[in-house]
Amino acid sequence: MTNILKVDQVTKTYGKKHEQQYQALKGVNFSVAAGEFVAIMGASGSGKTTLLNLLSTLDQPTTGHILINGQDLSSLRAKQMADFRSQSIGFIFQDFNLLENLTNRQNIALPLTLRGISTNRIDPLIDELADKLDIKAILNKYPVAVSGGQKQRVAAARALIHRPAILLADEPTGALDSASAREMLDTMSLLNQRDHVTTLMVTHDPFSASFAKRILFIKDGKIGQEVNKGVKSRPAFYQELIAYLGTGE
Ligand SMILES: Nc1ncnc2c1ncn2[C@@H]1O[C@H](COP(=O)(O)OP(=O)(O)OP(=O)(O)O)[C@@H](O)[C@H]1O
Ligand SMILES: [Mg+2]
Repeated sequence: MTNILKVDQVTKTYGKKHEQQYQALKGVNFSVAAGEFVAIMGASGSGKTTLLNLLSTLDQPTTGHILINGQDLSSLRAKQMADFRSQSIGFIFQDFNLLENLTNRQNIALPLTLRGISTNRIDPLIDELADKLDIKAILNKYPVAVSGGQKQRVAAARALIHRPAILLADEPTGALDSASAREMLDTMSLLNQRDHVTTLMVTHDPFSASFAKRILFIKDGKIGQEVNKGVKSRPAFYQELIAYLGTGE
């Protein structure tokens, strides 16, 4: 299978030389194939956000390489990097990151509007996604006027409108109540299964992780064990995860 993402011997050290330094990632290696739904699980401080910031090109590794769709990110200059990010990566944040002075429709359109694509061409794409994400009725409202769950589905539409190679999500249900979290996770599963959206989610929450098909555990800046859902049901996979985490691994 084609690898959409390849992370090769990646380290990240915060702090300048001769100052206090902290190595947050200590040689991370893994790949994500086209169509996979992978979760990276780890405790607070294990390096999840650090890793996602590197994958989303917001920050650079200290050593090692990251390839997305075969493109080595370290070989891109700043402008090329910005173009690559806006074409190949979709990002969902824990706290939505919607612009409050734009309507939900304008928020979703933004990645394409910024590339100079006309509203006539964007609108049908939005309508199609809005159907899938069940946000049709709220497109003309402002983010402040909709629920947290709806905001996150608007954010998901914005992350997918340009058909990125990979969807990256950092604790996408962290700011949601349990019912909205469940809906969001079901939606992400559906997008992965039906539309083959390649997804990488980081989370500390075993319930969220149980929606993925493969889970990598990160601890102290290194990926350790990996578990696969296989043919198990989602609830059975969740129970397995709880048991696994309970053993103190
Ligand atoms: N800008 C920074 N400068 C120095 N150290 C940092 C910086 N950002 C993160 N760290 C340290 O790197 C380690 C990993 O942080 P990171 O934010 O990646 O963890 P996390 O797994 O996302 O945690 P959480 O679940 O709490 O969000 C932590 O020990 C943190 O204190
Ligand atoms: Mg974090």
